[in-house]
Amino acid sequence: MDSSSSQSPKAASPIPATAPAPLLSAEAAAAAGILPASHWADQPLPEEHADDDDTASTIRSVLSSTASLSSTIFQYRTHHGRTYHGDIGNAEGWEPNDMRHIESMDIAHHCFTVCTGGKLFLSPLDTKKVKKVVDIGTGTGLWAIDFADEFPHAEVIGTDITPIQPSWVPPNVQFELEDCNQEWTWAENTFDFIHIRMLIGVVEDWHALFREAYRTCKPGGYTESFVTTAHFESDDGSVKTGSALDQWGNIWAEGGKALGRTFDPYTEELQRKGMEAAGFVDIDFKDMVIPVGVWHPDKDAAERGLWWKMTLEMDLEGYLNYICHNLLGWKPEETKAFCAHVKKEWNDPNIHGYARARIAWGRKPE
Ligand SMILES: C[S@@+](CC[C@H](N)C(=O)[O-])C[C@H]1O[C@@H](n2cnc3c(N)ncnc32)[C@H](O)[C@@H]1O
Repeated sequence: MDSSSSQSPKAASPIPATAPAPLLSAEAAAAAGILPASHWADQPLPEEHADDDDTASTIRSVLSSTASLSSTIFQYRTHHGRTYHGDIGNAEGWEPNDMRHIESMDIAHHCFTVCTGGKLFLSPLDTKKVKKVVDIGTGTGLWAIDFADEFPHAEVIGTDITPIQPSWVPPNVQFELEDCNQEWTWAENTFDFIHIRMLIGVVEDWHALFREAYRTCKPGGYTESFVTTAHFESDDGSVKTGSALDQWGNIWAEGGKALGRTFDPYTEELQRKGMEAAGFVDIDFKDMVIPVGVWHPDKDAAERGLWWKMTLEMDLEGYLNYICHNLLGWKPEETKAFCAHVKKEWNDPNIHGYARARIAWGRKPE
């Protein structure tokens, strides 16, 4: 199945957005340990690596956009030249939904599949009996498409608030616009498997999310959730206080508070707590580190690191734009300067930063 034909939002006529006032005062940002934007802009910019653009364009050339649709759902908010989902009530997303970010999401799907050893799930599913599956916040829909390809007898639904999924998909996949923070529209006991991956900074209430998952999961069915942390640690102290990688964590932590949607369900253990409170049983999980880059001596960790770095570098500014602009009031060139320092540290072989990931699953009792 050619899954490269993501619908392009290029034909959209974006809704002009006025730059909102920064949510965080300079004093509050300083209290949260966030250095002012001028700190990054004042330092000499690291030289761009000559091969950065080559890598990006090689990957881009593999991916293509084929379709364009016009409807109000394709009228996106814009912030500093990037487009964002602009419809469905108040489900305001921090991730761009333009082509560059779509490419990053597609690489992320490969990265997360590498994290699970090439598997699409870790729950102990009886796959022959799986008839109906949902992927909540499906993004570009590649997980749903791969699952549908592998299990053609299953009906797979992918949901999102933004229509960036391809139109050329297996016959047993469909995509629906659905806000995961609202009451879900399906009847109870609908799904054999509910897949929820990387909804950090998306979910308003993880307990409510797992309550809806429990309600719509069939007895005996499974719900699985995959999250990463949004800060970098190092075992050897190479991620130093005040460095760009250290600041990265502070920025996302404050971003989550301002949005009212945490970027750190891992550390808050919200997967286990939410699943337990909802009633799931046999809760289990797999933890791992995800380095940035290939520095890790363990081959599997290094492979995860290669793809994580590719994912983030494909659209680093896209990941940071909304939070830095809307929360901190940074100018585009200041966000760019910060990105250059982040990239420099990722490319420094003496800096050994990593994030953590947890894949957790639970069964709804019969
Ligand atoms: C980091 S991406 C993860 C995509 C996909 N789950 C994956 O792992 O490849 C987060 C996705 O959540 C979607 N999203 C944001 N807010 C949402 C909401 N309220 N309900 C459903 N999806 C939402 C975004 O549009 C984006 O596609």
